[in-house]
Amino acid sequence: MASFDTIIIGGGPGGYVCAIRAAQLGLKVAVVEGRETLGGTCLNVGCIPSKALLNATHHLHEARENFEKMGLMGTAPTVDWPKMLCYKDDVIGQNTKGIEFLFKKNKIIWIKGWASIPAVGQVKVGDEVHEAKNIIIATGSESSSLNGVTIDEKIVVTSTGALTLEKIPAKLAVIGAGVIGLEMGSVYARLGSEVTVIEYLDAITPGMDAEVAKSFQRILQKQGLKFILGAAVQSVATTATGASVHYKLNKNDAEATLDADTVLVATGRRPYTAGLGLEALGVEMLPHGQIKTDNHFATNLSGLYAIGDAIGGPMLAHKAEDEGMALAEILAGKSGHVNYSVIPGVIYTTPEVATVGQTEEQLKTEGRAYKVGKFSFMGNGRAKAVFQSEGFVKILADKDTDRILGAHIIGPMAGDLIHEICIAMEFGASAQDLALTCHAHPTYSEAVREAALACGDGAIHA
Ligand code: NAI
Repeated sequence: MASFDTIIIGGGPGGYVCAIRAAQLGLKVAVVEGRETLGGTCLNVGCIPSKALLNATHHLHEARENFEKMGLMGTAPTVDWPKMLCYKDDVIGQNTKGIEFLFKKNKIIWIKGWASIPAVGQVKVGDEVHEAKNIIIATGSESSSLNGVTIDEKIVVTSTGALTLEKIPAKLAVIGAGVIGLEMGSVYARLGSEVTVIEYLDAITPGMDAEVAKSFQRILQKQGLKFILGAAVQSVATTATGASVHYKLNKNDAEATLDADTVLVATGRRPYTAGLGLEALGVEMLPHGQIKTDNHFATNLSGLYAIGDAIGGPMLAHKAEDEGMALAEILAGKSGHVNYSVIPGVIYTTPEVATVGQTEEQLKTEGRAYKVGKFSFMGNGRAKAVFQSEGFVKILADKDTDRILGAHIIGPMAGDLIHEICIAMEFGASAQDLALTCHAHPTYSEAVREAALACGDGAIHA
Protein backbone atom coordinates (compact mmCIF):
# COMPACT_ATOMS: atom_id res chain seq x y z
CA MET A 1 0.00 0.00 0.00
CA ALA A 2 1.33 3.41 -0.98
CA SER A 3 0.30 6.67 0.61
CA PHE A 4 -0.12 10.06 -1.13
CA ASP A 5 -1.28 13.57 -0.42
CA THR A 6 -3.51 13.40 -3.48
CA ILE A 7 -4.66 10.64 -5.80
CA ILE A 8 -6.31 11.78 -8.99
CA ILE A 9 -8.49 9.33 -10.87
CA GLY A 10 -8.22 10.04 -14.59
CA GLY A 11 -5.27 11.25 -16.67
CA GLY A 12 -7.16 13.56 -19.06
CA PRO A 13 -6.78 17.36 -19.27
CA GLY A 14 -8.52 17.86 -15.90
CA GLY A 15 -6.55 15.16 -14.08
CA TYR A 16 -3.09 15.61 -15.55
CA VAL A 17 -3.11 19.41 -15.22
CA CYS A 18 -4.30 19.09 -11.62
CA ALA A 19 -1.51 16.57 -10.95
CA ILE A 20 1.22 18.79 -12.41
CA ARG A 21 0.10 21.88 -10.49
CA ALA A 22 -0.30 19.88 -7.23
CA ALA A 23 3.20 18.44 -7.65
CA GLN A 24 4.61 21.90 -8.41
CA LEU A 25 3.06 23.09 -5.16
CA GLY A 26 4.85 20.36 -3.21
CA LEU A 27 2.18 17.68 -2.88
CA LYS A 28 2.93 13.95 -3.28
CA VAL A 29 0.69 13.00 -6.19
CA ALA A 30 -0.42 9.85 -8.03
CA VAL A 31 -2.70 9.60 -11.06
CA VAL A 32 -4.67 6.43 -11.80
CA GLU A 33 -5.23 5.92 -15.52
CA GLY A 34 -6.43 2.71 -17.16
CA ARG A 35 -5.74 3.62 -20.79
CA GLU A 36 -2.42 2.61 -22.34
CA THR A 37 -1.53 6.30 -22.66
CA LEU A 38 -2.15 9.47 -20.68
CA GLY A 39 -4.19 12.41 -21.96
CA GLY A 40 -7.74 11.05 -21.72
CA THR A 41 -10.37 11.45 -24.40
CA CYS A 42 -8.95 14.79 -25.53
CA LEU A 43 -5.49 13.61 -26.51
CA ASN A 44 -6.33 10.02 -27.50
CA VAL A 45 -9.71 10.11 -29.24
CA GLY A 46 -10.95 13.69 -29.18
CA CYS A 47 -9.56 17.21 -29.54
CA ILE A 48 -6.07 16.36 -30.75
CA PRO A 49 -6.71 13.61 -33.35
CA SER A 50 -9.68 15.50 -34.78
CA LYS A 51 -7.50 18.59 -35.17
CA ALA A 52 -4.91 16.53 -37.05
CA LEU A 53 -7.57 15.35 -39.51
CA LEU A 54 -9.04 18.85 -39.75
CA ASN A 55 -5.57 20.18 -40.56
CA ALA A 56 -4.84 17.57 -43.25
CA THR A 57 -8.20 17.98 -44.93
CA HIS A 58 -8.00 21.78 -44.70
CA HIS A 59 -4.78 21.67 -46.74
CA LEU A 60 -6.44 19.30 -49.21
CA HIS A 61 -9.30 21.74 -49.60
CA GLU A 62 -6.85 24.64 -50.05
CA ALA A 63 -4.94 22.73 -52.71
CA ARG A 64 -8.08 21.86 -54.61
CA GLU A 65 -9.92 25.17 -54.29
CA ASN A 66 -7.34 27.91 -53.97
CA PHE A 67 -3.91 26.88 -55.26
CA GLU A 68 -4.68 27.67 -58.90
CA LYS A 69 -6.04 31.09 -57.93
CA MET A 70 -2.61 31.86 -56.43
CA GLY A 71 -0.74 30.64 -59.49
CA LEU A 72 0.20 27.32 -57.90
CA MET A 73 -0.41 24.96 -60.80
CA GLY A 74 -0.27 21.18 -61.11
CA THR A 75 -2.25 18.20 -59.97
CA ALA A 76 -3.98 18.59 -56.63
CA PRO A 77 -2.95 15.95 -54.06
CA THR A 78 -4.86 12.70 -53.73
CA VAL A 79 -5.70 11.13 -50.38
CA ASP A 80 -3.81 8.17 -48.93
CA TRP A 81 -6.27 7.47 -46.09
CA PRO A 82 -4.16 4.93 -44.14
CA LYS A 83 -1.25 7.37 -44.27
CA MET A 84 -3.44 10.23 -43.08
CA LEU A 85 -4.53 8.04 -40.15
CA CYS A 86 -0.85 7.30 -39.38
CA TYR A 87 -0.13 11.03 -39.30
CA LYS A 88 -3.04 11.44 -36.87
CA ASP A 89 -1.74 8.57 -34.67
CA ASP A 90 1.71 10.10 -34.72
CA VAL A 91 0.32 13.40 -33.46
CA ILE A 92 -1.52 11.54 -30.67
CA GLY A 93 1.70 9.69 -29.73
CA GLN A 94 3.76 12.85 -29.52
CA ASN A 95 1.18 14.48 -27.27
CA THR A 96 0.57 11.55 -24.93
CA LYS A 97 4.32 10.93 -24.54
CA GLY A 98 4.69 14.61 -23.75
CA ILE A 99 2.39 14.17 -20.73
CA GLU A 100 4.34 11.09 -19.62
CA PHE A 101 7.52 13.19 -19.75
CA LEU A 102 5.86 15.92 -17.67
CA PHE A 103 4.80 13.30 -15.09
CA LYS A 104 8.40 12.10 -14.74
CA LYS A 105 9.70 15.66 -14.58
CA ASN A 106 7.24 16.50 -11.77
CA LYS A 107 7.69 13.14 -9.98
CA ILE A 108 4.05 12.17 -10.40
CA ILE A 109 3.37 8.46 -10.00
CA TRP A 110 1.22 6.91 -12.74
CA ILE A 111 -0.73 3.98 -11.27
CA LYS A 112 -1.84 1.99 -14.34
CA GLY A 113 -5.30 0.46 -14.11
CA TRP A 114 -8.92 1.29 -13.36
CA ALA A 115 -9.72 2.74 -9.97
CA SER A 116 -12.56 2.35 -7.51
CA ILE A 117 -13.06 4.08 -4.17
CA PRO A 118 -13.81 1.45 -1.51
CA ALA A 119 -13.84 4.06 1.30
CA VAL A 120 -13.05 7.70 1.88
CA GLY A 121 -9.26 8.11 1.69
CA GLN A 122 -8.73 4.87 -0.28
CA VAL A 123 -8.32 4.10 -3.97
CA LYS A 124 -8.28 0.50 -5.17
CA VAL A 125 -6.52 -0.43 -8.41
CA GLY A 126 -6.49 -4.15 -9.20
CA ASP A 127 -5.80 -5.86 -5.86
CA GLU A 128 -3.92 -2.95 -4.37
CA VAL A 129 -5.38 -0.28 -2.13
CA HIS A 130 -3.63 3.10 -1.97
CA GLU A 131 -4.22 5.81 0.60
CA ALA A 132 -4.60 9.54 0.07
CA LYS A 133 -5.55 12.57 2.13
CA ASN A 134 -7.53 13.80 -0.86
CA ILE A 135 -9.04 11.94 -3.81
CA ILE A 136 -9.99 13.76 -6.99
CA ILE A 137 -12.36 12.28 -9.53
CA ALA A 138 -11.43 13.47 -13.03
CA THR A 139 -12.92 10.61 -15.01
CA GLY A 140 -14.40 12.67 -17.85
CA SER A 141 -17.27 11.65 -20.05
CA GLU A 142 -18.41 9.16 -22.68
CA SER A 143 -20.65 9.48 -25.74
CA SER A 144 -24.35 9.46 -24.86
CA SER A 145 -26.41 6.65 -26.24
CA LEU A 146 -29.50 7.28 -28.35
CA ASN A 147 -32.66 5.18 -28.08
CA GLY A 148 -33.06 2.88 -31.07
CA VAL A 149 -29.42 3.19 -32.09
CA THR A 150 -26.76 0.54 -31.50
CA ILE A 151 -23.17 1.68 -31.80
CA ASP A 152 -20.77 -0.85 -33.39
CA GLU A 153 -17.92 1.65 -34.02
CA LYS A 154 -17.71 0.37 -37.61
CA ILE A 155 -20.88 1.42 -39.42
CA VAL A 156 -22.60 3.28 -36.60
CA VAL A 157 -19.87 5.18 -34.83
CA THR A 158 -19.24 7.72 -32.09
CA SER A 159 -16.51 10.34 -32.42
CA THR A 160 -14.03 7.60 -31.42
CA GLY A 161 -14.93 5.33 -34.35
CA ALA A 162 -15.11 8.31 -36.71
CA LEU A 163 -11.37 8.81 -36.17
CA THR A 164 -10.48 5.31 -37.38
CA LEU A 165 -12.90 4.46 -40.21
CA GLU A 166 -11.53 1.75 -42.51
CA LYS A 167 -12.40 3.80 -45.55
CA ILE A 168 -13.80 7.19 -46.42
CA PRO A 169 -17.59 6.74 -46.65
CA ALA A 170 -19.34 7.77 -49.86
CA LYS A 171 -22.30 8.84 -47.74
CA LEU A 172 -22.03 9.92 -44.11
CA ALA A 173 -25.08 10.62 -41.96
CA VAL A 174 -24.37 12.67 -38.87
CA ILE A 175 -26.88 12.71 -36.02
CA GLY A 176 -26.55 15.99 -34.09
CA ALA A 177 -25.39 19.39 -35.38
CA GLY A 178 -23.21 20.10 -32.35
CA VAL A 179 -19.46 20.52 -32.17
CA ILE A 180 -18.49 16.91 -32.90
CA GLY A 181 -21.00 16.48 -35.74
CA LEU A 182 -19.82 19.62 -37.52
CA GLU A 183 -16.09 19.13 -37.00
CA MET A 184 -16.10 15.51 -38.15
CA GLY A 185 -18.73 16.26 -40.80
CA SER A 186 -16.35 18.89 -42.21
CA VAL A 187 -13.45 16.44 -42.26
CA TYR A 188 -15.38 13.90 -44.32
CA ALA A 189 -17.03 16.49 -46.58
CA ARG A 190 -13.54 17.69 -47.56
CA LEU A 191 -12.53 14.07 -48.16
CA GLY A 192 -15.38 13.73 -50.66
CA SER A 193 -18.16 12.15 -48.55
CA GLU A 194 -21.70 13.30 -49.10
CA VAL A 195 -22.48 14.51 -45.58
CA THR A 196 -26.01 14.99 -44.24
CA VAL A 197 -26.51 16.26 -40.71
CA ILE A 198 -29.79 15.51 -38.97
CA GLU A 199 -30.53 17.83 -36.04
CA TYR A 200 -33.41 17.78 -33.58
CA LEU A 201 -33.56 21.56 -33.13
CA ASP A 202 -34.37 24.14 -35.83
CA ALA A 203 -30.84 25.56 -35.79
CA ILE A 204 -27.34 24.15 -35.66
CA THR A 205 -25.01 24.49 -32.64
CA PRO A 206 -27.57 24.99 -29.88
CA GLY A 207 -26.78 27.81 -27.46
CA MET A 208 -24.61 29.69 -29.94
CA ASP A 209 -25.41 33.33 -30.83
CA ALA A 210 -28.19 32.88 -33.42
CA GLU A 211 -26.70 35.26 -36.00
CA VAL A 212 -23.40 33.36 -35.92
CA ALA A 213 -25.15 29.98 -36.08
CA LYS A 214 -27.12 31.08 -39.13
CA SER A 215 -24.05 32.36 -40.93
CA PHE A 216 -22.13 29.21 -39.95
CA GLN A 217 -24.85 26.99 -41.42
CA ARG A 218 -24.82 28.95 -44.69
CA ILE A 219 -21.04 28.63 -44.98
CA LEU A 220 -21.11 24.89 -44.24
CA GLN A 221 -23.85 24.41 -46.82
CA LYS A 222 -21.67 26.16 -49.39
CA GLN A 223 -18.96 23.63 -48.50
CA GLY A 224 -21.37 20.83 -49.39
CA LEU A 225 -22.83 19.78 -46.02
CA LYS A 226 -26.58 19.15 -46.09
CA PHE A 227 -28.82 19.76 -43.10
CA ILE A 228 -32.12 18.25 -42.05
CA LEU A 229 -33.26 20.39 -39.12
CA GLY A 230 -36.17 19.90 -36.74
CA ALA A 231 -35.90 16.13 -37.10
CA ALA A 232 -35.77 13.55 -34.33
CA VAL A 233 -33.88 10.37 -35.13
CA GLN A 234 -35.99 7.37 -34.16
CA SER A 235 -33.74 4.46 -35.03
CA VAL A 236 -30.87 3.28 -37.18
CA ALA A 237 -31.05 -0.08 -39.02
CA THR A 238 -27.79 -1.59 -40.25
CA THR A 239 -26.94 -4.03 -43.04
CA ALA A 240 -23.53 -5.57 -43.75
CA THR A 241 -22.45 -2.53 -45.73
CA GLY A 242 -24.44 0.43 -44.54
CA ALA A 243 -27.31 1.85 -42.52
CA SER A 244 -30.67 3.59 -42.77
CA VAL A 245 -31.43 6.41 -40.40
CA HIS A 246 -35.11 6.68 -39.64
CA TYR A 247 -36.27 10.13 -38.50
CA LYS A 248 -39.44 12.10 -37.86
CA LEU A 249 -39.94 15.79 -38.64
CA ASN A 250 -41.05 17.73 -35.57
CA LYS A 251 -43.35 20.09 -37.48
CA ASN A 252 -45.71 17.50 -38.98
CA ASP A 253 -44.59 14.09 -37.69
CA ALA A 254 -43.73 13.06 -41.27
CA GLU A 255 -41.35 10.10 -41.25
CA ALA A 256 -38.42 9.59 -43.60
CA THR A 257 -35.28 7.53 -44.05
CA LEU A 258 -31.75 8.48 -44.96
CA ASP A 259 -29.36 5.84 -46.28
CA ALA A 260 -25.65 6.09 -45.54
CA ASP A 261 -22.47 4.00 -45.50
CA THR A 262 -21.55 5.32 -42.08
CA VAL A 263 -23.57 6.98 -39.34
CA LEU A 264 -21.90 9.26 -36.79
CA VAL A 265 -23.86 9.63 -33.57
CA ALA A 266 -22.92 13.00 -32.05
CA THR A 267 -25.80 13.77 -29.72
CA GLY A 268 -23.81 14.79 -26.68
CA ARG A 269 -21.74 13.22 -23.93
CA ARG A 270 -22.48 12.12 -20.37
CA PRO A 271 -20.29 11.92 -17.27
CA TYR A 272 -18.28 8.73 -16.97
CA THR A 273 -18.34 7.56 -13.37
CA ALA A 274 -19.23 3.86 -13.72
CA GLY A 275 -17.22 1.45 -11.60
CA LEU A 276 -15.98 4.02 -9.09
CA GLY A 277 -18.40 2.83 -6.41
CA LEU A 278 -19.94 6.26 -5.86
CA GLU A 279 -23.39 4.94 -5.06
CA ALA A 280 -22.14 2.66 -2.30
CA LEU A 281 -20.13 5.54 -0.87
CA GLY A 282 -23.20 7.78 -0.84
CA VAL A 283 -21.81 10.49 -3.14
CA GLU A 284 -24.48 13.02 -4.03
CA MET A 285 -25.21 13.28 -7.75
CA LEU A 286 -27.05 15.78 -9.98
CA PRO A 287 -30.07 14.64 -12.06
CA HIS A 288 -28.06 14.10 -15.29
CA GLY A 289 -25.42 11.91 -13.69
CA GLN A 290 -22.86 14.57 -12.79
CA ILE A 291 -21.20 14.52 -9.38
CA LYS A 292 -22.52 17.30 -7.18
CA THR A 293 -19.78 19.64 -5.96
CA ASP A 294 -19.58 22.96 -4.15
CA ASN A 295 -17.65 25.89 -5.61
CA HIS A 296 -14.41 24.42 -4.27
CA PHE A 297 -15.01 21.17 -6.17
CA ALA A 298 -15.77 19.29 -2.93
CA THR A 299 -18.34 16.50 -2.95
CA ASN A 300 -20.53 15.80 0.07
CA LEU A 301 -17.80 13.45 1.40
CA SER A 302 -14.79 14.88 3.18
CA GLY A 303 -11.56 14.56 1.16
CA LEU A 304 -13.37 13.62 -2.06
CA TYR A 305 -13.38 16.12 -4.93
CA ALA A 306 -14.43 16.11 -8.58
CA ILE A 307 -13.61 18.24 -11.64
CA GLY A 308 -14.13 18.38 -15.41
CA ASP A 309 -16.79 16.60 -17.46
CA ALA A 310 -17.74 14.50 -14.41
CA ILE A 311 -19.28 17.59 -12.76
CA GLY A 312 -21.62 20.26 -14.14
CA GLY A 313 -20.79 22.98 -16.69
CA PRO A 314 -19.55 22.91 -20.27
CA MET A 315 -17.78 19.72 -21.30
CA LEU A 316 -14.58 21.35 -22.48
CA ALA A 317 -10.98 20.29 -21.95
CA HIS A 318 -9.89 23.80 -21.00
CA LYS A 319 -12.68 24.15 -18.43
CA ALA A 320 -11.46 20.88 -16.86
CA GLU A 321 -7.85 22.12 -16.93
CA ASP A 322 -8.78 25.34 -15.17
CA GLU A 323 -10.71 23.42 -12.53
CA GLY A 324 -7.76 21.05 -12.07
CA MET A 325 -5.37 23.93 -11.56
CA ALA A 326 -7.73 25.77 -9.19
CA LEU A 327 -8.35 22.64 -7.09
CA ALA A 328 -4.63 21.86 -6.80
CA GLU A 329 -4.11 25.38 -5.49
CA ILE A 330 -6.97 25.07 -3.01
CA LEU A 331 -5.55 21.77 -1.71
CA ALA A 332 -2.13 23.38 -1.34
CA GLY A 333 -3.64 26.12 0.83
CA LYS A 334 -3.83 28.78 -1.88
CA SER A 335 -6.92 30.38 -3.40
CA GLY A 336 -7.82 28.68 -6.67
CA HIS A 337 -10.65 30.11 -8.71
CA VAL A 338 -12.37 29.58 -12.08
CA ASN A 339 -14.22 32.46 -13.76
CA TYR A 340 -17.04 30.57 -15.46
CA SER A 341 -18.29 33.67 -17.25
CA VAL A 342 -15.14 33.85 -19.36
CA ILE A 343 -14.72 30.37 -20.79
CA PRO A 344 -14.25 30.42 -24.56
CA GLY A 345 -15.80 27.82 -26.86
CA VAL A 346 -14.29 27.03 -30.25
CA ILE A 347 -15.35 24.94 -33.23
CA TYR A 348 -12.35 24.10 -35.39
CA THR A 349 -13.97 24.06 -38.80
CA THR A 350 -12.90 26.37 -41.63
CA PRO A 351 -13.79 29.08 -40.87
CA GLU A 352 -13.41 28.60 -37.14
CA VAL A 353 -16.16 29.70 -34.79
CA ALA A 354 -15.32 31.08 -31.36
CA THR A 355 -17.43 32.50 -28.64
CA VAL A 356 -17.11 33.87 -25.11
CA GLY A 357 -19.52 35.42 -22.66
CA GLN A 358 -23.15 36.14 -23.36
CA THR A 359 -25.05 35.79 -26.63
CA GLU A 360 -27.43 38.45 -27.94
CA GLU A 361 -30.35 36.13 -27.14
CA GLN A 362 -29.22 35.79 -23.52
CA LEU A 363 -28.92 39.56 -23.14
CA LYS A 364 -32.41 40.03 -24.60
CA THR A 365 -33.86 37.46 -22.20
CA GLU A 366 -32.18 39.27 -19.29
CA GLY A 367 -33.63 42.55 -20.54
CA ARG A 368 -30.16 44.08 -20.49
CA ALA A 369 -29.42 47.28 -22.44
CA TYR A 370 -26.60 46.41 -24.83
CA LYS A 371 -24.99 47.56 -28.06
CA VAL A 372 -23.54 45.53 -30.90
CA GLY A 373 -20.29 46.19 -32.74
CA LYS A 374 -19.87 44.08 -35.85
CA PHE A 375 -17.15 43.89 -38.44
CA SER A 376 -17.03 41.64 -41.50
CA PHE A 377 -13.80 39.90 -42.53
CA MET A 378 -14.61 41.29 -46.01
CA GLY A 379 -13.05 44.52 -44.75
CA ASN A 380 -9.91 42.78 -43.47
CA GLY A 381 -7.03 42.80 -45.94
CA ARG A 382 -5.24 39.80 -44.45
CA ALA A 383 -8.38 37.63 -44.61
CA LYS A 384 -8.91 38.60 -48.25
CA ALA A 385 -5.34 37.62 -49.09
CA VAL A 386 -5.98 34.05 -47.91
CA PHE A 387 -9.51 33.63 -49.34
CA GLN A 388 -11.01 33.63 -45.86
CA SER A 389 -13.12 36.77 -45.89
CA GLU A 390 -16.33 34.97 -44.94
CA GLY A 391 -17.56 35.68 -41.43
CA PHE A 392 -17.44 38.49 -38.91
CA VAL A 393 -16.57 39.58 -35.40
CA LYS A 394 -19.45 40.59 -33.17
CA ILE A 395 -18.85 42.29 -29.83
CA LEU A 396 -21.65 42.86 -27.36
CA ALA A 397 -21.11 45.64 -24.82
CA ASP A 398 -23.18 47.20 -22.08
CA LYS A 399 -25.05 50.18 -23.51
CA ASP A 400 -24.26 52.47 -20.60
CA THR A 401 -20.85 51.38 -19.33
CA ASP A 402 -19.40 50.01 -22.63
CA ARG A 403 -18.13 46.96 -20.68
CA ILE A 404 -17.69 43.93 -22.94
CA LEU A 405 -20.34 41.29 -22.21
CA GLY A 406 -19.66 38.77 -24.95
CA ALA A 407 -17.99 38.19 -28.30
CA HIS A 408 -18.73 35.86 -31.17
CA ILE A 409 -16.40 35.32 -34.08
CA ILE A 410 -16.75 33.32 -37.26
CA GLY A 411 -13.69 33.62 -39.45
CA PRO A 412 -10.00 32.79 -39.85
CA MET A 413 -8.19 31.88 -36.62
CA ALA A 414 -11.29 32.74 -34.60
CA GLY A 415 -10.16 30.25 -31.95
CA ASP A 416 -7.04 32.32 -31.33
CA LEU A 417 -8.58 35.75 -31.83
CA ILE A 418 -11.14 35.15 -29.09
CA HIS A 419 -8.46 35.23 -26.38
CA GLU A 420 -7.78 38.92 -26.74
CA ILE A 421 -11.42 39.44 -25.83
CA CYS A 422 -11.20 36.89 -22.98
CA ILE A 423 -8.34 38.86 -21.46
CA ALA A 424 -10.22 42.13 -21.97
CA MET A 425 -13.23 40.62 -20.18
CA GLU A 426 -11.07 39.29 -17.32
CA PHE A 427 -9.82 42.83 -16.79
CA GLY A 428 -13.35 44.27 -17.00
CA ALA A 429 -12.40 46.22 -20.13
CA SER A 430 -14.72 48.36 -22.20
CA ALA A 431 -15.08 48.03 -25.97
CA GLN A 432 -13.26 51.35 -26.18
CA ASP A 433 -10.25 49.87 -24.33
CA LEU A 434 -9.97 47.34 -27.17
CA ALA A 435 -10.63 49.94 -29.82
CA LEU A 436 -7.87 52.23 -28.52
CA THR A 437 -5.28 49.44 -28.45
CA CYS A 438 -2.96 49.57 -31.45
CA HIS A 439 -3.30 46.38 -33.54
CA ALA A 440 -0.60 45.36 -36.00
CA HIS A 441 -1.43 45.56 -39.69
CA PRO A 442 -2.16 43.36 -41.55
CA THR A 443 -3.60 40.87 -39.05
CA TYR A 444 -6.92 39.12 -38.52
CA SER A 445 -6.92 40.76 -35.07
CA GLU A 446 -7.66 44.08 -36.72
CA ALA A 447 -11.19 42.76 -37.29
CA VAL A 448 -11.57 42.48 -33.49
CA ARG A 449 -10.46 46.07 -33.07
CA GLU A 450 -12.83 47.21 -35.83
CA ALA A 451 -15.75 45.44 -34.12
CA ALA A 452 -14.77 47.24 -30.90
CA LEU A 453 -14.67 50.55 -32.83
CA ALA A 454 -18.12 49.71 -34.18
CA CYS A 455 -19.38 49.70 -30.56
CA GLY A 456 -18.42 53.39 -30.48
CA ASP A 457 -18.12 55.95 -33.27
CA GLY A 458 -17.79 53.36 -36.02
CA ALA A 459 -15.39 50.96 -37.71
CA ILE A 460 -12.93 52.43 -40.21
CA HIS A 461 -13.03 49.82 -42.99
CA ALA A 462 -16.76 49.11 -42.96
P1 NAI B 1 -23.53 18.72 -28.52
O1 NAI B 1 -24.28 18.78 -27.26
O2 NAI B 1 -22.60 19.82 -28.91
O3 NAI B 1 -24.57 18.54 -29.75
C1 NAI B 1 -25.48 17.47 -29.82
C2 NAI B 1 -26.59 17.81 -30.81
O4 NAI B 1 -27.37 16.65 -31.03
C3 NAI B 1 -27.52 18.88 -30.30
O5 NAI B 1 -27.62 19.90 -31.27
C4 NAI B 1 -28.85 18.14 -30.10
O6 NAI B 1 -29.97 18.96 -30.33
C5 NAI B 1 -28.74 17.03 -31.13
N1 NAI B 1 -29.58 15.85 -30.89
C6 NAI B 1 -29.78 15.22 -29.70
N2 NAI B 1 -30.62 14.16 -29.88
C7 NAI B 1 -30.97 14.11 -31.20
C8 NAI B 1 -31.81 13.25 -31.99
N3 NAI B 1 -32.46 12.20 -31.47
N4 NAI B 1 -31.94 13.50 -33.31
C9 NAI B 1 -31.28 14.57 -33.86
N5 NAI B 1 -30.47 15.40 -33.16
C10 NAI B 1 -30.30 15.18 -31.83
O7 NAI B 1 -22.77 17.32 -28.47
P2 NAI B 1 -21.53 16.72 -29.28
O8 NAI B 1 -21.32 17.42 -30.57
O9 NAI B 1 -21.76 15.26 -29.29
O10 NAI B 1 -20.29 17.07 -28.35
C11 NAI B 1 -20.23 16.53 -27.03
C12 NAI B 1 -19.43 17.42 -26.10
O11 NAI B 1 -18.06 17.43 -26.49
C13 NAI B 1 -19.94 18.84 -26.11
O12 NAI B 1 -20.06 19.28 -24.79
C14 NAI B 1 -18.86 19.59 -26.84
O13 NAI B 1 -18.73 20.92 -26.35
C15 NAI B 1 -17.61 18.75 -26.57
N6 NAI B 1 -16.67 18.91 -27.66
C16 NAI B 1 -16.00 20.08 -27.80
C17 NAI B 1 -15.16 20.28 -28.87
C18 NAI B 1 -14.49 21.60 -29.01
O14 NAI B 1 -14.41 22.35 -28.04
N7 NAI B 1 -14.02 21.98 -30.20
C19 NAI B 1 -14.92 19.25 -29.89
C20 NAI B 1 -15.71 18.08 -29.66
C21 NAI B 1 -16.53 17.92 -28.58
